[in-house]
Amino acid sequence: METQNKIAILDFGSQYTKLIARRIRELSVYSEILPYNTDPKDLADPAIKGVILSGGPRSVLADGAPAVVPEFWDLDKPILGICYGLQLMCRDHGGAVVSADDREYGPATLQLEAVTNPLFKGFETQTRVWMSHGDRLEQAPAGFHILGTSDNAPITAMAHDSRPLFGIQFHPEVSHSQNGLTLLKNFVTGICGCDQDWLMADYMEATVAEIREQVGDDHVLLGLSGGVDSSVAAALIHRAIGDQLTCVFVDHGMMRKDERRQVVHTFKDQFGIHLIDVDASDLFLGRLSGVNDPEKKRKIIGRTFVEVFDSEAGKLKNVTYLAQGTLYPDVIESAVAVGPAQTIKSHHNVGGLPEKMNLRLLEPLRELFKDEVRQVGRLLGLPEVMVERHPFPGPGLAVRILGEITREGVAVLQEADAIFIDLLHKWGLYNEVSQAFAVLLPVRTVGIMGDERTYEQVCAIRSVSTTDFMTADWSRLPYDFLAEVSSRIVNEVKGINRVVLDITSKPPGTIEWE
Ligand code: XMP
Repeated sequence: METQNKIAILDFGSQYTKLIARRIRELSVYSEILPYNTDPKDLADPAIKGVILSGGPRSVLADGAPAVVPEFWDLDKPILGICYGLQLMCRDHGGAVVSADDREYGPATLQLEAVTNPLFKGFETQTRVWMSHGDRLEQAPAGFHILGTSDNAPITAMAHDSRPLFGIQFHPEVSHSQNGLTLLKNFVTGICGCDQDWLMADYMEATVAEIREQVGDDHVLLGLSGGVDSSVAAALIHRAIGDQLTCVFVDHGMMRKDERRQVVHTFKDQFGIHLIDVDASDLFLGRLSGVNDPEKKRKIIGRTFVEVFDSEAGKLKNVTYLAQGTLYPDVIESAVAVGPAQTIKSHHNVGGLPEKMNLRLLEPLRELFKDEVRQVGRLLGLPEVMVERHPFPGPGLAVRILGEITREGVAVLQEADAIFIDLLHKWGLYNEVSQAFAVLLPVRTVGIMGDERTYEQVCAIRSVSTTDFMTADWSRLPYDFLAEVSSRIVNEVKGINRVVLDITSKPPGTIEWE
């Protein structure tokens, strides 16, 4: 969307760069991550009201450290350097940066000289902040003054005497930094003068108009999985172009319980979207018969999916666009410090299709973070269960049924999984965790039901908390909740007589079992 009001964040490779962008958007101001070597001419765009330099893993003292060109500092707009950004500002203006003996990581107390600087409006003189740095400033450059200090970093915050240049050693974007959001707000709305006009309803209407204009009289094809991203993309595109959109939903036979029915009901019956739902379960399960190896299973599913999707798409006439639910984190993942990138989700099931089918890409969500996509989904009237749904892998239950996949195994796991998820909702825990599911193990154990000896399969339950799914911790679910899950699964699901809990974090484990 064209906005006249945004903040550019130059990325020097920090793990927190995305978080800076998120925090600013939380303030209803649009923010964009750009490579650190973006041409200052592009940054001169009047819509960019201010620039933030992110942290980064390198040392500004090292040869070849990422830097900005000298003309960057001539930009006539506010600049805030965070950590590496501060050190770069200091170095480039002739101050002294030294490498510290020890890396400082964790909480520190910021002691402000005075709270008169607009960056620290609303702060007390002492504030807890979060540090993560090796190098530190020893001497501020000429023309700058020190705003705050801390035990390990004598210059924790500085500002230019007359120009709007600011630098801080700590990370305001991290929630452990007290008043971090206030500082960002002071910079973005106070110093840069941004209006807080990034509102999802406006964004949605503007995107609908853009889709209409881009697509014109052409037709769009979308692979609908039932997940949040493709569902929101479908509803949004449908709002823009109605019947010019066709969705294809491939049921590979390893979806969650009732998933196909829900997808068809929501999109076909409620939204009136032109939806082709294909029951390809026989084909998929037939090809998977006798296959135990996880990688082989994934390959068969990937290949078969493309085949089925391709064949359905081939029946349609006049399709020129393939729509995908690509999100902003997918776009910036590979843009980090190398230059703008236009990537397609590599793990996405329809990856490879556009080249083969000669279709143009339509990616209406590529500027949005996941929670923003959820807001758009709500505005479009998608059901809450769909909008809040945990991620579900493309190969579906195939990666949660260890060993050979059979129709019976799928049915058993669907029941157990549905009980677990249903109870998470009932206990108000579903939105507290990031992803939860059941896994069916190819192991039988002995049990006793009534007076009868049983010899049935084991079900593992897995629940994790994470922000980016790259690392994750297992959820500390209440014992009474776990007791109810276990008792209901063993009592109600024929074929399972034992439930175990997965308490492995990622790394070293992965979230899925295969
Ligand atoms: P792992 O198991 O790698 O999972 O820790 C990280 C996240 O990715 C999801 N996942 C997939 N998603 N196709 C997908 O669309 C796949 O093949 C796939 N494998 C894993 C997983 O559910 C978790 O959210």
